[in-house]
This record gives sequence, structure tokens and C-alpha cells, in this order.
Amino acid sequence: MRVMKQARIRSSEASGAIPYLMELGLVDRSAKISKDGDHRLVPIAAGREDEMIEMGYEITEGPAYTMERRKPQERLALELADLPEEAVSALPMKWEYVGDVVILKIDGACLPYKERIGEAYARILGAKTVCADINGIAGELRRPSTEIIYGSDTESVRLENGIYFEFDVSRIMFASGNTDERMRMKEMDCRGETVADMFAGIGYFTLPIAKFTGARKVFACEKNPDSYKYLIRNIERNDVSEKIIPMLGDNRYMPGKRFADRVIMGYVQTTSAFLPKALDMVKRGGMIHYHDTFYVNGHKEKIEGIFSAAGADFQIEKIKEVKSFAPSVSHYVADVRIL
Ligand SMILES: C[S@@+](CC[C@H](N)C(=O)[O-])C[C@H]1O[C@@H](n2cnc3c(N)ncnc32)[C@H](O)[C@@H]1O
Repeated sequence: MRVMKQARIRSSEASGAIPYLMELGLVDRSAKISKDGDHRLVPIAAGREDEMIEMGYEITEGPAYTMERRKPQERLALELADLPEEAVSALPMKWEYVGDVVILKIDGACLPYKERIGEAYARILGAKTVCADINGIAGELRRPSTEIIYGSDTESVRLENGIYFEFDVSRIMFASGNTDERMRMKEMDCRGETVADMFAGIGYFTLPIAKFTGARKVFACEKNPDSYKYLIRNIERNDVSEKIIPMLGDNRYMPGKRFADRVIMGYVQTTSAFLPKALDMVKRGGMIHYHDTFYVNGHKEKIEGIFSAAGADFQIEKIKEVKSFAPSVSHYVADVRIL
């Protein structure tokens, strides 16, 4: 029998804790919860063990009493086998979990059957809601274009590296490809620093910096009112209200000159338009984390050109590829010291 990792949870705490862990997507719903004396053994979803440990649960290993031995992909294909051939062969075989909401990329051939597909994916993947990603992320405010194909509640919570990110999956983007960069921000040494996050979103960088780096204050600006609402909720949920000053509006109106030890520019494609404001806010000797997409060939020269054109005296300390964006184009972040 397959062996799997399980979290030991006191039976007296189980009725409160297990639904919450399920909401966070930490429970492997394809396996059964079993009993061990006055404890429950809760099967842990693949790759989520560290988060259970972080929450203080004791981890054990035990047999996986699976409810269904087949892989979900096989079960989905079997369940929907009566759809026309072109729809069956286009069924999504990958998906993203955000807590207990599932996001799928849906092919045109599947669209006429989206309700059936949504119901089957919800049941087999154990999701409360299924959203179809219709057209990726678009526009200045990075709104996703999604359609709910099963359920109605699209609010969810993602626990990542010790931070809770609550948001509405159907209205707000969450770049899972940026996880490493959020981790890097969490691990910086910002003791005593004042930080300005010009594109705060729901707190992608603001929250790890405020919670873990020793920063004194983080000024977090966000223009999209939907994202701002969750930024405020996430500040409270992560218990960092004393460290963060949230602002709703365009970052070009952020007050103050040369006050920031560090400025985060977590935005791509028109980032250079905001560089004059970042240079206004950063102290001499301070750091700008400058994000943008560039052709892989010549990206360093391009970044140098942008800072030179803005009249900055600077030194690039590091350039890191965040993720591939398109063929020959990547999203980079440059750590640029302003002299
Ligand atoms: C792409 S998201 C941030 C992504 C994030 N860095 C991550 O790791 O996933 C950028 C955010 O900047 C916001 N934004 C765009 N223009 C803005 C402006 N002029 N002032 C403040 N916020 C802005 C958008 O609404 C969006 O929430």
C-alpha cells in the first residue's frame, strides 16, 4: 500500500481545523482521514508538508487509504467520456489550486460543455468553485478574465512561505510564477529600513517584507480598489498593521522625497514610465528593485539605458530572471543601487 505524510490533529480540534486546512488546499482529498487514539491523521496534499509543520502540526507517515486509486486526470476523462471526441481530447489535464478554488484553461472545443466540465472537476478535485481562465491577465490594473463554471464563491486564501494571501480569484491576479521572487524579498535584510512598494497589489511583496525582513515601515500603494480591499484584509490577517501604511491611488502621487531605503517596482511592460517617481522617492545609496520584460539578448544594456535616460547615477548589483514570458523574452528584476 502507498505510504503518505499525515498531520496528527487532536480529535477535539478536528472539527474546526480540518475545514480550514481544506480551505487552504493543504489536505489531500483523494485519501481518507483516519483515527489514531484521540487524534485524527489528515493526509497532506503533495508539496504542502512544510506549511503544516509551520502551523505547528506533528507529521507522521502512514498508509494511504485512497478513496479512488485512479489519478484525477483518468477519473475526469472517464467521467466525461460521453462528450464529443474533440471536447474529450481537449479536456484540461492541468489546473491551479488557489485554496479550494480551481482555475482551468479551457479550450474552445470544451466551451459548449463548460457546466458539465465544471461540475465534474469540482467533484473530482474537491473544489468549492471552478473558474475558467478565458483570456489571461489584461490591462493596467492586471484584471484576470475568468468565468465561473461551477459554484459561486471565488474568495480564497493561499498560504505561501508563511504569508496568508486572501483574494478573489475571479477579480485579482496571482502570479504563481513569481513565488521565488516573493521568497527572495522575504529573505532580504531590511532592518530599520523604510520601503516603498509602488505596485502593492494584495501585498505580494509588501507582506513578506513587513513580516520577515526587519523593515521599519512599508508604504504600499495600489490603484485597483478590488486589490486594495484585499491588501487591507491581508495586512490584518498577517498581523502587520503597525508596519504598513497602505495607500489607494496612483503611485505617482505618493508623498515624500528621498525617504525610501528601498523601492519595489513590481510591474512589467510600462515600468520605465514610473522610474522618475521611484528616483524621487529613493535615498542616495538606496536600492530600486526594477521589474520588466526584456529580450533575453541584451537585457542588461537595456536596463542600463533606461536608468541612464532617467538621469540616474547608479550601479546594477544583480539581475535575476523571474520567469520566461514569451519566446526569447523574460521577466527580469534588477537590483539597482542609486548613488
Ligand atoms: C502585476 S501586479 C503585481 C504583481 C506582483 N508583483 C506579483 O508578484 O505577483 C501590479 C499591481 O500594480 C497595480 N498598479 C498598476 N498601475 C499602478 C499605479 N500607477 N499605481 C499604483 N498601483 C498600480 C495594479 O493594479 C496591480 O495590482
